[in-house]
Amino acid sequence: MLAMNYGCGTTVHPRDLGGSPSVVYVGVGGGLELLQFAYFSRRRGGVIGLDVVDEMLSACSKNLDLAEEINPWFKRSFVDLRKGDAFDLPIEDGVIDVAAQNCLFNIFQADDLGRALSEMHRVLKPKGRLILSDPICSTEIPEALRRDERLRAMCLTGAISLDAYIERLASVGFGIVEVRARRPYRVLAPGQFATKRPIVLESVEICAIKSPVPADGPDVFAGHTAIYFGVGENFSDHSGLHLPSNQPTPISVKTAAKLVALSRQDIFVSEPTWFYAGAGCC
Ligand SMILES: C[S@@+](CC[C@H](N)C(=O)[O-])C[C@H]1O[C@@H](n2cnc3c(N)ncnc32)[C@H](O)[C@@H]1O
Repeated sequence: MLAMNYGCGTTVHPRDLGGSPSVVYVGVGGGLELLQFAYFSRRRGGVIGLDVVDEMLSACSKNLDLAEEINPWFKRSFVDLRKGDAFDLPIEDGVIDVAAQNCLFNIFQADDLGRALSEMHRVLKPKGRLILSDPICSTEIPEALRRDERLRAMCLTGAISLDAYIERLASVGFGIVEVRARRPYRVLAPGQFATKRPIVLESVEICAIKSPVPADGPDVFAGHTAIYFGVGENFSDHSGLHLPSNQPTPISVKTAAKLVALSRQDIFVSEPTWFYAGAGCC
């Protein structure tokens, strides 16, 4: 499974996986993350794995059979491996706790990305989580590279910016977005690719929560942290934000902007770390 890991991050985080969740994983690859999710669900059909490529399903199935032989905790029946398309998930509405994809949606063109994200949103329960890992790119990728289907399929030239990705998530109904990791991923170099300048790709891990999108846009947590260090016991803005004295409090991008605008000398507001690991708040 490790040799067949075609992902660019991880979608498996123990903090999302309490209570034996129902999981759907789209684009199974060698099955590594199916096995990891099954570790937490541990019940018949708790994890549904979907892919459109027969060869991939058959390779994954063999790996899962082997996993059953060598892992006493794992039963092959924990994973329901099926043929299924990201654009038309064979799952009813609102029954899934965690929907995941790793290094697949970046290869889709804009309309298809919208369909795939809407499908993930449709099958999730209210407050359910879409967990994804994908390449992103902060600069424009030349059109000729974008149109190259082979390079797109290699997860090299379909990437969009993080802001655009978050907009797409909000547009289908994800009201809370956690950016959990952001790392350098690849460089498309002139001479090797049809580009005049090096193009840096990053990879991102995101958890998007199915909750109503506020009128002023989604609450995005990107690792901003506030610390109140004034003389009082704590700080309150009297509209829901409480900062305990000298404790780091994760805050959203919107809250960070509001606090910076207050220009207070007794509140520290960090830059985004792109490593959000706290509970949602504010
Ligand atoms: C780059 S691989 C990633 C595999 C796996 N997620 C991993 O991290 O190793 C993309 C996977 O998505 C599958 N795939 C491609 N198009 C798909 C679609 N429309 N619906 C479902 N799966 C698809 C491919 O067959 C392949 O298994």
